[in-house]
Amino acid sequence: MTDEVKQRKIEHVAIALEHDIAEPQQASWADVRLVHRALPEVDLDEIDTSVEFLGARLRYPIFISSLTGGHPDVAAINARLATIAGEYGLAMGVGSQRAALVTPALEETYSIVRATASSALLIANVGAPQLIEQQRHPAFTVEDARRAVAMIGARALAIHLNYLQEAAQPEGDRRARGSLAALRVIAAEVGVPVIAKETGAGIGYEQALALNAAGVSAIDVGGAGGSSMAAMESVRAQSRGDGRTAQIGQLFRGWGIATPIAVVETRLAAPGLPIISTGGVRSGLDAARALALGATLIGMGFPFLKAASESVEAVREFLDQFLTELRVAMQLTGAPSIAAMQQRPAVVTGQTREWLAARGFEDELRSMAQRGMRNPPPNQ
Ligand SMILES: Cc1cc2nc3c(=O)[nH]c(=O)nc-3n(C[C@H](O)[C@H](O)[C@H](O)COP(=O)(O)O)c2cc1C
Repeated sequence: MTDEVKQRKIEHVAIALEHDIAEPQQASWADVRLVHRALPEVDLDEIDTSVEFLGARLRYPIFISSLTGGHPDVAAINARLATIAGEYGLAMGVGSQRAALVTPALEETYSIVRATASSALLIANVGAPQLIEQQRHPAFTVEDARRAVAMIGARALAIHLNYLQEAAQPEGDRRARGSLAALRVIAAEVGVPVIAKETGAGIGYEQALALNAAGVSAIDVGGAGGSSMAAMESVRAQSRGDGRTAQIGQLFRGWGIATPIAVVETRLAAPGLPIISTGGVRSGLDAARALALGATLIGMGFPFLKAASESVEAVREFLDQFLTELRVAMQLTGAPSIAAMQQRPAVVTGQTREWLAARGFEDELRSMAQRGMRNPPPNQ
């Protein structure tokens, strides 16, 4: 069991880097159109991209998504990402800490992030399926969750919701009953804010309501449209000769609620709760679109993983380009701050619109498109 988890961590990274596990959705960021201002009256250099998240100030609204740890070979990736988190003032997650909770010798592959970035906002990570008793392992306790937090000096704990991934994993946990109640207990007792985090299948209105009621402090919508954990597990299942599970992963690789939709549904169900928009964000323009839909932070997994597998410099290059794109989008919509960007009109088209209209959110579609029309903000 111990070696199994450790081995899986290295396989996930290798598969993500060597295979195509992307699953673009038809409802996508291209559906979200921002309204251009011919006279922006905002200098590119004066744009303030800082944002408050869970009581901390970040210089950019960016979350380096929970990716890895648990195998000595991936510690370098975590160290490179932590270097960037510290340098740019970003939030950063680590991958599921289950490996180190069962094998303390692996702790260093996670704690290296705190050793590298002494003041970064770090986010611990455990899985909801592991909070309940499974056929092959007992439930993690509140004490285990506290150990995960302490291991990296985390400011918050992400509890990942990955039942699709488990279903496509040969050795996956299949029980789900009781995880909401377990999550509620952790949120009340772990001592740091809890973030509920989907991993590619998205959070819809109903689930956002339930999570808000369970006491989470933020939701990472982890929507469909980016890296598919089902596709990743399907490759592993195939390599083990488990064709049936591999087929599940293939059939469901596009399953889920697309990220832009998940951001809107979550905001409407849990107004005021910070939202992280993760899943297929690939440019600073996508990031601006996510902010206009109501996101607080933008999460990215694969782009950071790919760059960090090369070098710190590669991550810097990726991020600098991304942040310039975000600033340009903010300038062209006349948004000098993240708060202003969140109030800019967004015209939602295509399949994203169709979905949201079918779910009864026509008023919201109209209201997002018409923001500022009746009382136009003065040109800043
Ligand atoms: C190799 C790999 C490993 C991951 N491991 C975890 C994990 O342990 N815990 C977690 O919450 N999410 C995990 N994720 C999901 C990411 O945090 C993120 O939600 C996902 O990659 C979607 O974002 P993207 O489309 O920008 O890649 C992993 C993703 C990848 C690609």
